[in-house]
Amino acid sequence: MRWMAAILILPALCRAGDLGPVTLPAPQKTGGMKLMQALNERKSTREFATQKLPPQVLSDLLWAAWGVNRPDGRRTAPSASNRQEMDIYVATADGLYLYQAKEHRLQPVTSDDLRGSTGTQDYVKQAAVNLVYVADLAKMGNGSAESKAMYSGADTGFISQNVYLYCASEGLVTVVRASVDRDALAKAMHLRPDQRITLAQSVGYPKK
Ligand SMILES: Cc1cc2nc3c(=O)[nH]c(=O)nc-3n(C[C@H](O)[C@H](O)[C@H](O)COP(=O)(O)O)c2cc1C
Repeated sequence: MRWMAAILILPALCRAGDLGPVTLPAPQKTGGMKLMQALNERKSTREFATQKLPPQVLSDLLWAAWGVNRPDGRRTAPSASNRQEMDIYVATADGLYLYQAKEHRLQPVTSDDLRGSTGTQDYVKQAAVNLVYVADLAKMGNGSAESKAMYSGADTGFISQNVYLYCASEGLVTVVRASVDRDALAKAMHLRPDQRITLAQSVGYPKK
């Protein structure tokens, strides 16, 4: 059956081109702005500088968003019944990656720059990073479509707020977005039929 695995994996390897997995630096889990101050500074911003995020900042951002924070594998955000159905895809100028929280690394998906496809608004393509929140319905049990949409929407909200607070703390700017052409983006991202894009979120440095 090894040849079957190879047939499944090969197209993904070709799409990823020269991109290899990116091992992120260990996240810095201390420091940052005081919580009450970060809450006071949390806001949506829609203007971005084109400057890339350094690896440490990307590492800290993703850990804050949805990293593993306990030895049993639980995460920085809650999820309904701890199903952990959300995935974060990271769209950068270099390509699209899947954040693998357990290994704290980025798995390449495609070398295409999909930032502009992650939203319908012009500023989206300027942001250094666009996070795409994707629910894996296969991890959500036998509930109704309505309950899966409700839980995955709520679980996305917690992750998104973690990103907002990290950005406030680090002097980054961000906006969460529902305005996404989900069918077109799912196709460009090569998602499976049981994966659903919930929201996207742009992150970057402020425009001077
Ligand atoms: C579920 C959700 C969807 C949103 N979708 C968009 C969007 O598509 N485009 C956008 O520019 N802002 C979007 N926003 C950001 C809101 O417009 C913003 O949070 C609101 O205006 C309040 O501003 P504040 O975040 O600075 O408090 C969305 C926010 C939420 C919570």
